[in-house]
Amino acid sequence: MRILVTGATGTLGGALVPALLKAGHEVRALSRAKREDRGNVDWIWGDLISGNGVEEAVRDVDAIAHLATSGRKGRGAVDVPGTRTLLILARAAGVPHVLFTSMAGTDRAAHGHLRDKLEAERLVMESGLGWTILRLTPFHQWLHRRLSDLASLPVLPVDRSLPWQPVHTGEVATRAAALLSAAPAEREIEFGGPQVITTEELVKVWLRASGLRRPCVPVRYPGRLYAAQRAGHLLTDAAPKGEISWHDYLLPPEPILSDDFATEHTASPTSPATQPELDPDLRVYGGDDGYERPTRS
Ligand SMILES: NC(=O)c1ccc[n+]([C@@H]2O[C@H](COP(=O)([O-])OP(=O)(O)OC[C@H]3O[C@@H](n4cnc5c(N)ncnc54)[C@H](OP(=O)(O)O)[C@@H]3O)[C@@H](O)[C@H]2O)c1
Repeated sequence: MRILVTGATGTLGGALVPALLKAGHEVRALSRAKREDRGNVDWIWGDLISGNGVEEAVRDVDAIAHLATSGRKGRGAVDVPGTRTLLILARAAGVPHVLFTSMAGTDRAAHGHLRDKLEAERLVMESGLGWTILRLTPFHQWLHRRLSDLASLPVLPVDRSLPWQPVHTGEVATRAAALLSAAPAEREIEFGGPQVITTEELVKVWLRASGLRRPCVPVRYPGRLYAAQRAGHLLTDAAPKGEISWHDYLLPPEPILSDDFATEHTASPTSPATQPELDPDLRVYGGDDGYERPTRS
């Protein structure tokens, strides 16, 4: 199959493109950066907000993995109008299947960025195309970057009441590749990490892995999205789940997954995939900023 991947340079895209190639698919990858074709990836320059390049991107593909997002800071510009543009052009081109990556909890807690994702889900379902919606819990890599962003603070604000279920993008990519190889599921499928852990545990393991020492000050993060998270609405008990825990991601008993292939094939200079893991000076790029930043209560 020939599969278009939007968001191919992002955190998940960096894992999905090699997973699709490994499964024997041809990959067409969309990016706003101009890139050379390399390693069986046909790069298309395009922008989902302006619509430039999108008609060419959707031509003659068997499926679309729609990963691109502008996150919370982009106020849904890619997730809603960008998705609408993609779907209209994909329908005109007769694309049989679109897989849309969303977030676990959109149906239970449609606040902030999750509201945009829910609206985009609706567009996908009503598009007239075959569809699959994959609702995901936060990625290890995303949480790691968020925490690294706080590394310069002398104390870390920690809300002990928040449950997290981080999942590894390598495992998400394997799941997404299998769904793309099959007929459209025409349903929402949730996929999350193996364990539910508190922010306190999350931070403790991260500090240990990063070789940092920071006192943690207890806070209560404000807002409706955190309230929903506190109530467990952003978790999933759907099976199968990922197997790589937060602890094993940061402190692996032995190397589990290599990002080298993904970096070589898809990452742009600004992509998180090109930035060293466990670097305390690491800054967040783009990112799916679905959760409001913690503030002291
Ligand atoms: N991060 C998480 O923890 C998490 C959790 C649950 C669900 N998800 C979902 O998983 C998917 C992938 O997330 P991610 O974290 O991998 O994303 P990401 O790292 O933030 O990457 C965003 C991607 O979107 C592309 N993009 C941004 N604006 C665009 C535009 N105007 N036109 C075309 N492409 C554009 C970027 O490509 P260029 O810069 O190359 O154009 C980049 O590849 C998203 O649907 C997200 O909502 C993420």
